[in-house]
This record gives sequence, structure tokens and C-alpha cells, in this order.
Amino acid sequence: MTTHSHAHGRFHKPTDAEIQIGVDVGSIEQHASPKKHRSHHVVVSVEGVSKRYQTDGGGVQALSDVTLHLYSGEFAMIYGPSGCGKSTLLHTILGLEEPNAGAVSIRDKHIYEMSVDDRSKLRRQYFGMVFQQSNWIKAFRVWENVGYPLFLEGRPHHEVKKHVLGLLERLGIAEFAYRKPMQLSGGQQQKVALARALATNPRIIVADEPTGNLDSVSGKEMIELLVKLNREEHRMILMVTHDLSLLPLATRRVGLKDGHIIFDDHD
Ligand SMILES: Nc1ncnc2c1ncn2[C@@H]1O[C@H](COP(=O)(O)OP(=O)(O)OP(=O)(O)O)[C@@H](O)[C@H]1O
Ligand SMILES: [Mg+2]
Repeated sequence: MTTHSHAHGRFHKPTDAEIQIGVDVGSIEQHASPKKHRSHHVVVSVEGVSKRYQTDGGGVQALSDVTLHLYSGEFAMIYGPSGCGKSTLLHTILGLEEPNAGAVSIRDKHIYEMSVDDRSKLRRQYFGMVFQQSNWIKAFRVWENVGYPLFLEGRPHHEVKKHVLGLLERLGIAEFAYRKPMQLSGGQQQKVALARALATNPRIIVADEPTGNLDSVSGKEMIELLVKLNREEHRMILMVTHDLSLLPLATRRVGLKDGHIIFDDHD
């Protein structure tokens, strides 16, 4: 996770030399199953979206006429310098930030034409979310935090526990089940956050800089888990990163600058 300087300077398409810096993605490539060709099913559709924030000092144009179609099975990475609109784009897709212009649809449903309640329901149904900082219920143990979205759905205690312990096992973090989240390292907490995002079995994992606070070893483990979820479980991943060295692991690469998409390619 060493390429922050690139992300803050003038932005451009990453060169091969740049993307070799940082995590050795080759070693992840070797162990992962092969990438698949992308499907023809658009899951997330962003059409001509603009988002302007009003502040005391005037307005900030966070997104300008952004159009993006994300396909089933993609591992999309959004990159670009600080302040270019990456998080705003994620929030807009998640239904958390209504754009001033344009439309967002999830599987052909215009999310900003729905009621707030229906939109939250749709968000819970489709998305699992991982952010840089996780909000834990501090008094709960790891497994209870991971199972919390299921408790909210009214699922019985023993069923939630069984499901969560299996999930932690799959992610290789079963040993943490009975600890409190605050008793874990940052990297371990991020894996638990990923487990929590997966608890409801969502089709799409959205992660905003999931490796941002981690050292390169923990960051690599986190990325390996995401690659595995994408290739073996065919979950769609939408991730924001500053780290250009990770881009080869994605199947879709979207570069943002000043609220505009300036680069978009796929395998
Ligand atoms: N709630 C808000 N009110 C006003 N301006 C905002 C708000 N949220 C974001 N902005 C502004 O919108 C622009 C885009 O912000 P955004 O958080 O999307 O950037 P980012 O690409 O995620 O940056 P970083 O890499 O630093 O996380 C920035 O100029 C930011 O200052
Ligand atoms: Mg951000």
C-alpha cells in the first residue's frame, strides 16, 4: 500500500511500472482460479449522474455526468486522487446520496424513485458494505457483531450462530469468534467487517478503501479474500482504492478525476 503519492498528483492512466509497485499481485494471481469473461447482465446502472454539495464557501461539484454500467460477476476498482468523487459515487450507488441529476438503477429499478424505506430494503438485499472504519457494537463478541444484520431480520439465535461460525471458518477467522472486535488488530477487524458484510449473503460487496489503514501483509490478505469471493463465489465487488498496484486484480478499472470518469476498461 505504498503508492499514495501517485494518487494525489496529476492523474493519468497507470503505467506498468507504477502498477508493479506495492503488493505483489502476481502471487495472488497464481493461486486464484482464472478470471471469467464478463456477463451481459447489467446490475448497477449509473446514468448521467451529477452530484453537487452545497457548502458555506459555495458549491463543490463531486460528480459530473458520470455514466457507468457494472456487470454481474465483475470485480470493479474505482481509483483516483483524493477528493475526486470516489466515495460519493459509492454512496450514490448505495442509495445513500441522491444525485442532483441523472439516475441510478439496481437491476432496472430506479432507486431514487423509490421510497426511503424501499431503498433501504433494496440496499440490504443487494449490498454488503465494508468501510475503512467499522462501527462495532463494542459489548458484542465478534460472532454477534457479524450476525447482527441477521438478528435484525428476526432470525433465531442458534441459526444465526451456526451460520456466522461457518462464515468465519470460510474466511479463516474462526479463532476470533468469541473475542470482542476491539481486541483485534486493524487487519483482523477488516476481515471481520468483511464477514459482517457477507452475513446476509449479498450479491454485491462494496468496499471503500478496505486496505487503506492496513500494512501490506494485512492488505494483501484482505484483497485475497475479495478476489476469492469474486472468482469462487461469483460475487460482484465494487471497491475504491488509492493503491494502483491492486488494479491488475480487478476485472474492471474505473479512473475518476474531478468528478469525471477519465478511464474505464475491462478484461
Ligand atoms: N457532505 C459533503 N459536503 C460537502 N462537500 C462534500 C461532502 N462530501 C464530499 N464532499 C466533497 O466532494 C468531493 C468528493 O468527495 P469524495 O469523498 O467523494 O472524494 P474521494 O474521492 O472519496 O476522496 P478520498 O480519496 O480522500 O476519500 C470533495 O471535494 C469533497 O470535499
Ligand atoms: Mg473517499
